[in-house]
Amino acid sequence: MKTRITELFGIEHPIIQGGMHYVGFAELAAAVSNAGGLGIITGLTQRSPDLLAKEIRRCHELTDKPFGVNLTFLPAVTSPDYPGYIQAIIDGGIKVVETAGNNPQQWLPALQDAGIKVIHKCTSVRHALKAQAIGCHAVSVDGFECGGHPGEDDVPNFILLPRAADELDIPFVASGGMADGRSLVAALALGADGINMGTRFIATQEAPVHRNVKEAIVAASELDTRLVMRPIRNTERVLNNAAAERLLAKERRLGPAMKFGDIIDEVAGVYPRIMQQGEMDAGVWSCGMVAGLIHDVPTVKELIERIINEAETIISRRLAQMASA
Ligand SMILES: Cc1cc2nc3c(=O)[nH]c(=O)nc-3n(C[C@H](O)[C@H](O)[C@H](O)COP(=O)(O)O)c2cc1C
Repeated sequence: MKTRITELFGIEHPIIQGGMHYVGFAELAAAVSNAGGLGIITGLTQRSPDLLAKEIRRCHELTDKPFGVNLTFLPAVTSPDYPGYIQAIIDGGIKVVETAGNNPQQWLPALQDAGIKVIHKCTSVRHALKAQAIGCHAVSVDGFECGGHPGEDDVPNFILLPRAADELDIPFVASGGMADGRSLVAALALGADGINMGTRFIATQEAPVHRNVKEAIVAASELDTRLVMRPIRNTERVLNNAAAERLLAKERRLGPAMKFGDIIDEVAGVYPRIMQQGEMDAGVWSCGMVAGLIHDVPTVKELIERIINEAETIISRRLAQMASA
C-alpha cells in the first residue's frame, strides 16, 4: 500500500508503532520495521543518552529497515537531558523521530540539520497546525479514544481526523482506536495517510512485556479504561485496576486542590513493575479503548499482514461492490 506516509518514511505499509514507555524496546521496534511498518524505540524509557545509544545499536542489529525514536516532552520534576538524547539519536543514524507532549520547536533545528524526519503527536487540530507551521514533516493525530494522554479536548477520531484533513497540508496518521483492517480503511477514508497503534502492538508475541499485561488487554472490553489525572490537566487513559480506582477516589475527595504529590504512589515509577514484573495493580498504566477489539496475541508480522490483507479486501470487494452497484 502506498501513501504519503510510506513515501516519507521509506516503509512498505502505512502502519506505525507509537512510542510506549517500557514497551518500545528494540525487540518490538525491530519486529514492526521488519514486518514493513515503522517501529519506534521509546527514548525516555532508556535512563540516559548512553543507554539510548546502546538500544539504538541493538535495534540496528535486529533490523536493516528504517525505525524511529520517540521523544516525549511532558512536565517532569527534573527535565531529562534532551540535548544528550538528541545527540544519541543523530549519532545512531536515526532517520525518524516521533515527538510528543509539549511543542518540540526548540529541538527541531538539530534534528532537521541531521536530515531527520519529525512526526509530532497531537490531540487537537490547533496543535497539528502549529506542528505544521514550525516545520514538522508529518503529524500523528491522537483521538479521545487513544491509550495514554488524549489531551483535554475530548474529540474522538470520527470528528478529529476529517477536521485535520480539512486543515493540514502535511501528511498525518490516525492514532487511537486503531486495531485492524477496518481501522486502516476508515482512517484512510477520513483523510489520514496511515495509522499509528499503541495498545494493539502490546498484545503481540514480540512485545517485551510480562504476559500478564498481554492477558489483561485481551481480557479487557472497550468499557474497561478510565481517565485519570484530569484535575491536574494531565489526563491519561489507563486500564481500570485497583490503582486507578484508588486514584479516582483521591480525585473525588480532593477535587481541584489535588496535586501531583497526592497521587505519586499510583503514577510514579510504576511502569517497570507492571510491564516487566507483571504486577498488574502496582499503579496506573496507559491502555486504549481499542482493548475491546483485541482478542489474540499474534506475531507482529501476522498482525501487520492481517491488517493489510483485510484492508485491501474491504477496499477491493466490499467498498468496490457498493460503489459499482
Ligand atoms: C502503555 C503505553 C505507554 C505509552 N507511552 C507513551 C510514551 O511514552 N510517549 C508517547 O508519546 N506516547 C505513549 N503512548 C501513546 C502511544 O504512542 C499511542 O499514541 C497510543 O497508544 C495510541 O492509542 P491506542 O492505544 O488506542 O492505539 C503510550 C501508550 C501506551 C498504551
